[in-house]
Amino acid sequence: MKLQEKMMFKTFLVFFILNIFWAAAKSQCTQSCDALASYYIPPGRTLTFISLRFQTTINNITSYNPQITNPDLIQSDTRINVPFSCNCINNDFMGHQFAYRARSGNTYKTIAELSYSNLTTVEMMTRFNMFTPENIPDASDLNVVVNCSCGNPRVSKDYGLFITYPLRPGENLSVLANAFGLPEGLLQDYNPGVDFSRGSGLVFIPGRGISGGAIAGISIGAIIGAVCLAACIYFVFYRRKKVTEESSLDKGQMIEIGHGVATAERTPESRPLVASASPKLKGITVDKSVEFTYEELAMATNDFHICHKIGQGGFGSVYYAKLRGEKAAIKKMDMQASKEFLAELKVLTNVHHVNLVRLIGYCIKGSLFLVYEYIDNGNLSQHLHGRETLPWSARLQIALDSARGLEYIHEHTVPVYIHRDIKSANILIDKNFHAKVTDFGLTKLIEVGSASLQTRLMGTFGYMAPEYGQFGEVSPKIDVYAFGVVLFELISAKEAVLKTNEVTTESKGLVALFDDAFSQPDQAKALRKLVDPRLGHDYPFDSVSKVAHLAKACTHENPRLRPIMRSIVVALTTLSSSSEDWDIAAFYKNQGLVHLMSGR
Ligand SMILES: Nc1ncnc2c1ncn2[C@@H]1O[C@H](COP(=O)(O)OP(=O)(O)OP(=O)(O)O)[C@@H](O)[C@H]1O
Ligand SMILES: *[C@@H]1O[C@H](CO)[C@@H](O)[C@H](O)[C@H]1NC(C)=O
Ligand SMILES: *[C@@H]1O[C@H](CO)[C@@H](O)[C@H](O)[C@H]1NC(C)=O
Ligand SMILES: *[C@@H]1O[C@H](CO)[C@@H](O)[C@H](O)[C@H]1NC(C)=O
Ligand SMILES: *[C@@H]1O[C@H](CO)[C@@H](O)[C@H](O)[C@H]1NC(C)=O
Ligand SMILES: [Mg+2]
Repeated sequence: MKLQEKMMFKTFLVFFILNIFWAAAKSQCTQSCDALASYYIPPGRTLTFISLRFQTTINNITSYNPQITNPDLIQSDTRINVPFSCNCINNDFMGHQFAYRARSGNTYKTIAELSYSNLTTVEMMTRFNMFTPENIPDASDLNVVVNCSCGNPRVSKDYGLFITYPLRPGENLSVLANAFGLPEGLLQDYNPGVDFSRGSGLVFIPGRGISGGAIAGISIGAIIGAVCLAACIYFVFYRRKKVTEESSLDKGQMIEIGHGVATAERTPESRPLVASASPKLKGITVDKSVEFTYEELAMATNDFHICHKIGQGGFGSVYYAKLRGEKAAIKKMDMQASKEFLAELKVLTNVHHVNLVRLIGYCIKGSLFLVYEYIDNGNLSQHLHGRETLPWSARLQIALDSARGLEYIHEHTVPVYIHRDIKSANILIDKNFHAKVTDFGLTKLIEVGSASLQTRLMGTFGYMAPEYGQFGEVSPKIDVYAFGVVLFELISAKEAVLKTNEVTTESKGLVALFDDAFSQPDQAKALRKLVDPRLGHDYPFDSVSKVAHLAKACTHENPRLRPIMRSIVVALTTLSSSSEDWDIAAFYKNQGLVHLMSGR
């Protein structure tokens, strides 16, 4: 044991020293600085579009572009400089990770070439995102990484504020040197080995000024980098040892924080616990564990470092954290919570059900932070469009699980909730491929910000019940409608809104698509055409057809004719138990769908 530790320490020392050299050699990835992106403006681009892509303000952009006199009128086929911060990415190179929410029809190519004007590439998009380049689920959050430079003191210390510049056909070294008033040699030295007349690819162009602070000496940078790395490595060793020592402790804490999660059972018969908003359960211990300090959350996320970020939604960003031994997802809200919402927070933390993502606690400091149990396996939308095909039985299980979660908030909590934002991105999948509904109760938040409400309504377009979209009429039946759309998604793996015409950006909802199929003379044939092709022939058509009819009932124009969640749970339970060991003979014996219509 002792010997082993010595060996470890030696290896560690050698590693440390090697690291100093390695860092010195790579050198560029040790500090942050400001940088500019040279954005070539195609016809029709607005400054708003550009500022959104680069998560900055229009004022910030114009302050770097004195040529812009009217922000509403920018000259196409010219370039503007967009400021951004240049950081070390993955301890490997300098860049900035922008967040981009994909829309239907996007591909890595259109995002790189059109949205980001070739400041990034399909290769970079593929490297930093999980989807296949041409099959990006609608509304998924993508990382767009743009390279940048903080200079190279071996070339010169007199330059700072580097421009990331995508080359275009017709440009060459002399043209650029001329345009920027720089010696050709210097420009080439900053871009060793680069052929400036290749017509594409990035080069870094130095600007004058802001040097000094921005470009620290190489040795200092290298040492800081090495120390950081060493700390990282030490941390890993130390953690390894500690984890084994602490594992017994961890368990104890898990019960304290996540008891609703750890102890819940998942038998179909198990009735959900009665909403625990009752005074009995509101002991002091519960109240205490519910409020976190900002310091605790910041510590658990390395000051909300980009490396911890796991998602971006309409309300804000989501970060991964390990809190008190338990994995957690922290939602950092962009907006202030309404009084109404704050009053409800404590009640929300007391809603426990296996099919609901549990709200563990919150923190109010500047913005609002919500701490949720962490669900390992991503959201349903990602699964429907990801690499692995979800088998039909898993889809049925997910439908049933989410229906149970919804039924619970509709009928068993005090007060009862209407979710209002049911969609495949709000259905999370755990390690055992069971589903949990998240983000219920959050709609109280958005009632305040009308501007963001606008974009949110657009964002969840395909899921909106007609009476809600047109007249703002709210009832549990708007969740039933949205759930029906999710069922259509489970069948077809298509987006809730489909682009039918790239040019006119015409679109069609999934509901309309299925309605068309139902009105065909050969309904079965039309339905089969809509089934996710990746299922091949591995699905019992009867089961699929029943789910489709259930979804049809859920998405009925008239809210009163839609079933209630309880009936949907019953229908799906029957279906999923009969498809467990799917076998056609057994299937025929099964009774049809339980009577769906509600008395409400
Ligand atoms: N508790 C959680 N555990 C694991 N991942 C989560 C958790 N909560 C959210 N995520 C991930 O973060 C992503 C963003 O979540 P967020 O709720 O902010 O946005 P959204 O669901 O896409 O849209 P909306 O803001 O309308 O809910 C989710 O899609 C999911 O992949
Ligand atoms: C303006 O840009 C700089 C450089 O990226 C950044 O540090 C700053 O936060 C931006 N300001 C605003 C208001 O976006
Ligand atoms: C980006 O690169 C592609 C391929 O080289 C080119 O066709 C396109 O015009 C470029 N776009 C811009 C805005 O420079
Ligand atoms: C950005 O930098 C990385 C690391 O040096 C490199 O692999 C990648 O090709 C660069 N991307 C572009 C678009 O030049
Ligand atoms: C660079 O381009 C300009 C204009 O297109 C041209 O006149 C010049 O000869 C080119 N220089 C080199 C070295 O290719
Ligand atoms: Mg969500």
